[in-house]
Amino acid sequence: MKTTINQVANYLNQEVTIGVWLANKRSSGKIAFLQLRDGTGFIQGVVVKAEVSEETFQLAKSITQESSLYVTGTIVEDTRSPFGYEMQVKEIEIIQEATDYPITPKEHGTEFLMDHRHLWLRSKKQHAIMKIRDQIIQATYQFFQKEGFVKVDPPILTGSAAEGTTELFHTQYFDEEAYLSQSGQLYMEAAAMALGRVFSFGPTFRAEKSKTRRHLIEFWMIEPEMAFVTHEESLEIQENYVQFIIESVLKNCTLELKTLERNLDALQKVKAPFPRITYDKAIEMLKEKGFTDIEWGEDFGAPHETAIAESFDQPVFITHYPKDIKAFYMKPDPDREDVVLCADLIAPEGYGEIIGGSARIDDLSLMKQRYEEHSLSGDAYQWYLDLRKYGSVPHAGFGLGLERTVAWISGVEHVRETIPFPRLLNRLYP
Ligand code: 4AD
Ligand code: MG
Repeated sequence: MKTTINQVANYLNQEVTIGVWLANKRSSGKIAFLQLRDGTGFIQGVVVKAEVSEETFQLAKSITQESSLYVTGTIVEDTRSPFGYEMQVKEIEIIQEATDYPITPKEHGTEFLMDHRHLWLRSKKQHAIMKIRDQIIQATYQFFQKEGFVKVDPPILTGSAAEGTTELFHTQYFDEEAYLSQSGQLYMEAAAMALGRVFSFGPTFRAEKSKTRRHLIEFWMIEPEMAFVTHEESLEIQENYVQFIIESVLKNCTLELKTLERNLDALQKVKAPFPRITYDKAIEMLKEKGFTDIEWGEDFGAPHETAIAESFDQPVFITHYPKDIKAFYMKPDPDREDVVLCADLIAPEGYGEIIGGSARIDDLSLMKQRYEEHSLSGDAYQWYLDLRKYGSVPHAGFGLGLERTVAWISGVEHVRETIPFPRLLNRLYP
């Protein structure tokens, strides 16, 4: 019977064949332990000299790392391994013999591993991170479907900048200039006016010259947008969404979290409602924590976010930022014109901002005023004004950065390990 590693529990004490790669091995004169992987998981294959042909045993001892093979044997319980099963191998059939696989079990430097990202993805740690990423994506679709959202796909080639013009990737669109999307938001607002509650999931691009553990040039964003929804109501959806994805990973990725040695207590604590503090309060807290030179009106950097997050064991919303450091579309607080109805969600443990969101300006004349202030009078932005002309309604939305969220939930230090092929400053290979 041909099967896969994630299905072996169904074949206890039965003989099966699995297509695998050899991840690692150790052997003595009488027994060989093969660490096998097939993409669905990892399992140990045990080859006992006395129980197989001499030819099979010699083969087991000589297989090279990352060779591909079919192994046939009996599945038995193995209480010592976190996976719980192993294979007593009877036969081995080599598909292709790999020679000099560059990533050996010894330690390698990050740049070396990044140069070999196409192979590095096969390692147990990277496998676990990609599975958690997938689980978060699955949970995202489940959550928004259950909440009555429609998935909408905004364009990637655009004529407009949603998040300011300094970080745009320019490209030629026949005889006009186009950009790679920084955010689908403006289009999602149009979609919300057509479909009520919508969400997108796609790649976004920032030509940001930042070389930090939180920045990618190409990252994936989930962007919900909701008609007739206030800023406060949006925060509730955000915290329920984040709690939902955490629960889903805790439930479905037990092995992966174990592989990554993730502290589960920290994740289990994450329960809505999350604390909310205003930007004003955050400035006060920072001053108390010794950041004496931060002034009201300045944006927060990573150290500021980390310092604030340390005071909470939950993600924390920082709300009501000064309007001058936020995007043109954010709705001013009706009680206070110098701040906007927005929130950044800061993850615990130093992972920084994972969500940025706000209520959107729904008043036509105010939006026109912002166009003046931000020099957005070009043709590319005219359609967006129509949303305020024809049945404008209060609406709000947010963007969750997938890679930062994966980094936090997986407990990995740097976002470069949370996307299959990271695009970083000075890295377009592989
Ligand atoms: O705060 P941002 O820039 O917000 C927007 O783009 C809004 N238009 C979203 C919306 O309201 N629809 O980005 C949202 C999130 C951030 O909180 C962060 O998680 C992630 O996207 N992000 C990045 N992730 C990795 N690398 C980068 N360079 C990122 N820039 C933003
Ligand atoms: Mg932001």
